[in-house]
Amino acid sequence: MPSTTPTLRRLASSPELYREYSTATILENKEDQWPYIVGNFISLRIREGLIPAQKHHIVKAEIIKCFLPFTMSPVLLVRLHYPALDLKGDFILKLYDRHFSCDFRQQSRDPYWDPELERKYQRYVLEDGDAASKLLERMEGFESLWPGEDDFEEDEEWDDAQNELYYQNVIRRLYKQESEVYRRTKDMHGIDVPRCIATVELLEYNMSRYTSETETSKFYDCPGILLQYIKGFALHELYEGDPGVPRETWQYICEDAVRIVNAISAHDICNDDVNVRNSIVAWDPITEKYKVRMIDFGHITFKRPGESDRDFREKRAHTDEEGAIGLIMESRLKEERGGGFVYTPSEESKLLKYDFMGEHGPRI
Ligand SMILES: Nc1ncnc2c1ncn2[C@@H]1O[C@H](COP(=O)(O)OP(=O)(O)O)[C@@H](O)[C@H]1O
Ligand SMILES: [Mg+2]
Repeated sequence: MPSTTPTLRRLASSPELYREYSTATILENKEDQWPYIVGNFISLRIREGLIPAQKHHIVKAEIIKCFLPFTMSPVLLVRLHYPALDLKGDFILKLYDRHFSCDFRQQSRDPYWDPELERKYQRYVLEDGDAASKLLERMEGFESLWPGEDDFEEDEEWDDAQNELYYQNVIRRLYKQESEVYRRTKDMHGIDVPRCIATVELLEYNMSRYTSETETSKFYDCPGILLQYIKGFALHELYEGDPGVPRETWQYICEDAVRIVNAISAHDICNDDVNVRNSIVAWDPITEKYKVRMIDFGHITFKRPGESDRDFREKRAHTDEEGAIGLIMESRLKEERGGGFVYTPSEESKLLKYDFMGEHGPRI
């Protein structure tokens, strides 16, 4: 998340709706209006499948586990039983659900989502659909997820319904970005990133369950991605937990994680959210070695058409993606375990520093 998080401007503040926003509150909700409860079944329509036969099918997924807390979106372990579609077993389902963009809502200090807010939103979309469409289109053009001063027209303030539209825009953008990363990195699927099995949409909230794309679906849709489930542990557990991994493997595990960060960047992707929590380590019984896979690609920037290599490299220099793994793992292992990994910056990383991060600013 960006460190500076401007509050959204609202016309009507609704203090009575403001509550500490926590996933726990949602999950304890007795009104039984949330689908994300272990044991529940949810319906998914497959948008694009790994195999063409999966397309358009509706499948029921059983929720086995919720990865809490939900931050930007619900991440679930689901079980599918469709052998004919090659969808049998446990998968990760990452959904982009406006109601659960918990971090975002909390940081922008917006009202906690509740049914009254939803009614306002639905009324707005129903009665003022053209204006809502236009505003959504404008939001899609905002340079970053957080609207800047320049994104607002003069004296423009958003009411609760328009804020809700903004959240819908945020989750749609995150979905577009993450699904595009999986599209671009097909060569790394199953090796350095999980296999992306399908893009899907949740039918539970859909106004029209049995029809595809409708005029209003952009206001309500809840898209998602179905991923290979990597049964392992996150990289940070090497210094924080006790995954029982021999010390002599730490060096090659961390090197693998650093290498993957760079292999992803090579697809014209700059990832602002590289984090030791987003590298999953799993034992590979075939090679008899640990293998890292990277996840979580919502907060990324693609090299824009027409953007120069120089400018994109400058962005990457400032982001220091590999340092977010290499430097952190080196220092935290040293603090917590007395060492175990020595980080050597890659040639590319050294060059980025030399070109852009010198004492006197960019060299080129
Ligand atoms: N493919 C996967 N295999 C195993 N666990 C996963 C996978 N994808 C996500 N997870 C688990 O779900 C958590 C949240 O997923 P992530 O994509 O990082 O979403 P968020 O944006 O909420 O951080 C991860 O930290 C990890 O524990
Ligand atoms: Mg994550």
